[in-house]
Amino acid sequence: MSKFKRYTVTAALPYANGPLHIGHLAGCYLPADIYVRYLRSNGELVKFICGSDEHGVPITIKAKKEGTTPQKVVDKYHKIMGDAFDEFGISFDIYARTSSKIHHKTATEFFNTLYQKGVFKEEITEQYFDEKANQFLADRYIVGTCPKCANENAYGDQCESCGSTLNATDLINPKSTFSGEKPILKKTKNWFLPLDTLQPQIDAYIDSHKEWKTNVLGQCKSWLSSGLQPRAMTRDLDWGVKVPIEGVEGKVLYVWFDAPIGYISATKEFFNTSKEINNTNEGDGANLISNLKPHEKEEWELYWKDKETKLVHFIGKDNIVFHCIIFPAMLMAEGSYILPEAVPANEFLNLEGNKISTSRNWAVWLHEYLLEFTNKQDALRYTLCANAPETKDNDFTWKDFQAKNNNELVAILGNFINRTLVLTHKYYDGKVPEALEFIKADILLLKELSKFPEKISSSIKQYRFREALAELMNLARLGNKFLADNEPWIIIKTDKNRVQTIMNLSLQIVANLTILMEPFLPFTSKKLATMINLNNNLKWNDATRTDLLLPGHQINPSSLLFEKVEDEIIDSQILKLNNSKIDNQSEINKSNILLNKNEDASPIVINFKNEAKADISFDDFNKMDIRVGTILEAERVPKTDKLMKLLIDTGIDKRTVVSGIAAYYKPEEIIGQKVSILVNLAPRKIKNIESQGMILMAENSNGELCFVEPSKLNINNGASIK
Ligand code: 2FM
Ligand code: ZN
Repeated sequence: MSKFKRYTVTAALPYANGPLHIGHLAGCYLPADIYVRYLRSNGELVKFICGSDEHGVPITIKAKKEGTTPQKVVDKYHKIMGDAFDEFGISFDIYARTSSKIHHKTATEFFNTLYQKGVFKEEITEQYFDEKANQFLADRYIVGTCPKCANENAYGDQCESCGSTLNATDLINPKSTFSGEKPILKKTKNWFLPLDTLQPQIDAYIDSHKEWKTNVLGQCKSWLSSGLQPRAMTRDLDWGVKVPIEGVEGKVLYVWFDAPIGYISATKEFFNTSKEINNTNEGDGANLISNLKPHEKEEWELYWKDKETKLVHFIGKDNIVFHCIIFPAMLMAEGSYILPEAVPANEFLNLEGNKISTSRNWAVWLHEYLLEFTNKQDALRYTLCANAPETKDNDFTWKDFQAKNNNELVAILGNFINRTLVLTHKYYDGKVPEALEFIKADILLLKELSKFPEKISSSIKQYRFREALAELMNLARLGNKFLADNEPWIIIKTDKNRVQTIMNLSLQIVANLTILMEPFLPFTSKKLATMINLNNNLKWNDATRTDLLLPGHQINPSSLLFEKVEDEIIDSQILKLNNSKIDNQSEINKSNILLNKNEDASPIVINFKNEAKADISFDDFNKMDIRVGTILEAERVPKTDKLMKLLIDTGIDKRTVVSGIAAYYKPEEIIGQKVSILVNLAPRKIKNIESQGMILMAENSNGELCFVEPSKLNINNGASIK
């Protein structure tokens, strides 16, 4: 028996500054949904909480970029994100938003409680201020030269080029992104959470969770071992929850203070809304008056303040310290809340070998996926779960998506179910046949079958969703093997009784699969439940039963659960991505892009030119005489930066070639280097030196020239390249 009576499961509140992509789904929403669906199927009391994170600099940056207001940005994306979650079956009990009244009230009260208790340290620090725009500058609004790598477009909190974490005051030549002016340092007062004095409590808390994932513990330990510092919980901004201290203007709560409180306010809103529905009350729930006696907890409080509630935060790895250190520290300081019991953070999902990037459109957007793959939400859920970045970053590729869909969903799961249902219709007009005598293989099958609910459950409880899904597929494999071993389609001619038993057992497996697949593939489970006419009140443990479909039970007409994805569809998705690579390349060249959160600005490596040159004939090609050669001598051409004079043994002669490689190689490095050389290029004078040919070079992603090396096999000079 679990020691918990109920579960509060949260999934990170995504910033309402753009549509959702597969990285979001794989990072935390899909695992959280699988977990919650499993808990519900087990009959547990659970509330699944999420909503839009509508404050903070990511929102104001987006508004600036779109030339609109932060409110308009969050209104737009809150709706788009909520719809996408719905469409992919992410079954939140509530999808709230942090701009709501109830959230502002809850966050304000939380801050006030800490303020009244004297938790905060008031400190005056110097922050950058843009005199022209008359505002303090958040770190992301300051750019300057990185002191570590000299990148001129580093941000006040991070250099995207070398990855260093920076303080705005580290930047050389800082500039405001509002006015382009040099900001001044100005004194300002803020309220700090004294993480330093709370550290002993936090140490003890983290130490009590040795079972957490290594990636999570690793990040916590690294923060703790360098000693926690007080962290400002207020900021000089005008977008957010106003700092509720008398006389304080132009300051809001730090977004990482208000956002996790969003989980609490969303839970309140959920219960208040349910009450409103019952009482037909009006308003957004902020002003409901409770009928509770003193000391009695309100329902939302049971989910946040009762020791028998398990609080689980699903997040991506960039949110670990906020959920494992800062939010728990806030909860400890407040005093009446439970602490997170588990924080199963995932690593990141990459796409076709590159980091997903919103601003560079290197993403598979959920709304676009649905345009191409109508009603195929489960195929994506399946691939993302099977490939979930649970212990390390992982890669999504379209080819793998196709393989998982065609070779696993269609060929294993779909195939087993389809064969079973089609044969049931064919032999028994869709009525479940009675099982007659069990042979040894049947007994073994039943024994195996009974283990699956527990196996899958155990993996889910340990947040190992890939493993759980693999077990589910093993059940389908077991079904396929049972059919293949028993060949009912052959023995129907000779042993009708045996076929009845085989088909009855296969149908029980299908029924069990319907229950066990629900957390992973909810759309398919629902469709299948309708096809086999299965009672929809069944719970997880019913999947151990072998009488789910009684003899005589009529099943409905069946159809295919999964369809093959053809090569053309996959090719067009890959092409679409490659096109965005090309678009991005020109964008990167043109502009200094304002990035969305956590994005790096390093260009995607492109090793091809955007367009091929015009066609040439074979004869044209044939005119070129390209040989293998060796560099015998090399010296820089005086008074030039780029040019090098080379003496090359071409196998037919020794000749001089002037080449623009001096910026990339030192003369002494390239003596003896094998090269490909075009020997019949008409001689031309470069800096008064006659150049008699051209060596072939390739440009790498940094724009540097590298030798196109003839194979390192011992090819003699003079060999033709064809
Ligand atoms: O990283 C993010 O997208 C944040 N908006 C997550 C916030 S999670 C929670 F604290 F609300
Ligand atoms: Zn740098």
